[in-house]
Amino acid sequence: MTLPYPIDHIGIATPDLEIGSAPYLAIGLTALPDEAIPSQKVMVRAFQAGDNLIELLMPTDPSSPIAVFLEKRGAGMHHIALRVHNLEAEIEKLEQTGAIFLNAEPRPGRAGTRVVFLHPKWGAGTLIELVEHGEAKS
Ligand code: CO
Repeated sequence: MTLPYPIDHIGIATPDLEIGSAPYLAIGLTALPDEAIPSQKVMVRAFQAGDNLIELLMPTDPSSPIAVFLEKRGAGMHHIALRVHNLEAEIEKLEQTGAIFLNAEPRPGRAGTRVVFLHPKWGAGTLIELVEHGEAKS
């Protein structure tokens, strides 16, 4: 049994996947195959960290949200992602509380997931992503 809302992954912005990978490889984590996410204009390299992932995000275009973040804040932690069973139900629930979404329409994420992002101002300073895995919906 899984407790609700486990951390799915932590997203880390990096201008270079090799430089960004170095500390995790040194610690002993294993990288999964790189995956491009065209809707976010990023290349993702995920590291398995126990049941969770650390995702390095490298922009593939200057208009990528990650490129904008790197310019403003530099490399480092970008967002946390919590896993949900039913994304639409969570969106509806949060919208009723006045939550502010960056995108209330789910977008494709890594590995066939669907994701939405909540505004960091709403997230008390943290960009929060909700992730639904294809097989998780019931
Ligand atoms: Co993410």
